[in-house]
Amino acid sequence: MAHVIAVVNQKGGVGKTATVANLAWELVVMGHSCLAVDLDPQGSLTISLGFDPDALDGDTIYEGMVLPADHPQHRALHPQLVELTGLALIPANLDLAAAELDLNTQYQREFALKRALAPLQEAFDFILIDCPPTLGVLAINALAAADAVLIPVGTNYLSLRGLQLLLRSISMTQQQINPVLQILGIVGTLYDRRLAHHTDVMQELRRLFPPQGIPVFESVIARSVRFEEAGMVGKPVVAYAPQNPGAEGYRQLTQEVLAHYARP
Ligand SMILES: Nc1ncnc2c1ncn2[C@@H]1O[C@H](COP(=O)(O)OP(=O)(O)O)[C@@H](O)[C@H]1O
Ligand SMILES: [Mg+2]
Repeated sequence: MAHVIAVVNQKGGVGKTATVANLAWELVVMGHSCLAVDLDPQGSLTISLGFDPDALDGDTIYEGMVLPADHPQHRALHPQLVELTGLALIPANLDLAAAELDLNTQYQREFALKRALAPLQEAFDFILIDCPPTLGVLAINALAAADAVLIPVGTNYLSLRGLQLLLRSISMTQQQINPVLQILGIVGTLYDRRLAHHTDVMQELRRLFPPQGIPVFESVIARSVRFEEAGMVGKPVVAYAPQNPGAEGYRQLTQEVLAHYARP
């Protein structure tokens, strides 16, 4: 059975997509099979792994998850292989923007993703889900399908705001629809060690959350222009600029995630 990790934060631009792309890539490099799932209608993960969201021809998360099984355009989820790697991807495009409306009329709509992923559970060691920057029906589906949540947090002051709201949603999901869901940890992203307030925010994260039972990863992801460059060529930073401190951060994060699952 795959470990299913949802990468969640309702704030946009905090490195959710970068975290999924780099962690997924690195898990494969380290010998684990991995499926990355794009659950954002903007298709950023799809693009950052080298696919064109407008040329997917019906093989997206939408057909498999949102369209009911008796719909003529329904297709079981069919992972695409990312070029030159063993990494698999369920892509997304703007069709997914209709999910909120389409799922509204469906029975147990919180579990649409869990149902769609069920046949793939045995085929992978890890399934990573890239969430949209909202706490709507798509993010709730990710929390319902996952057994763990990873929370990227930008290391500036504004990023800390909104974290309580996210933690409340996670806690409600645990109580009402997914009791096995655990918080894998918070990872600081977009970190610039030259900026005093970034160091302050990291300290604040480490002071506030571990006492509440919410781990904060030792790994911190440095800010670097290489991320945007890598996005433009459709590769994660760990593949595009392996020497970059941001890539090193993601390699360390991957080790920490693996160490977590290696524990008895
Ligand atoms: N560590 C980083 N340093 C610099 N830029 C980054 C970093 N991580 C992500 N980015 C860039 O910031 C933007 C937002 O990142 P992204 O991963 O898409 O965030 P989210 O998925 O949370 O919206 C993208 O343009 C991405 O290339
Ligand atoms: Mg994103």
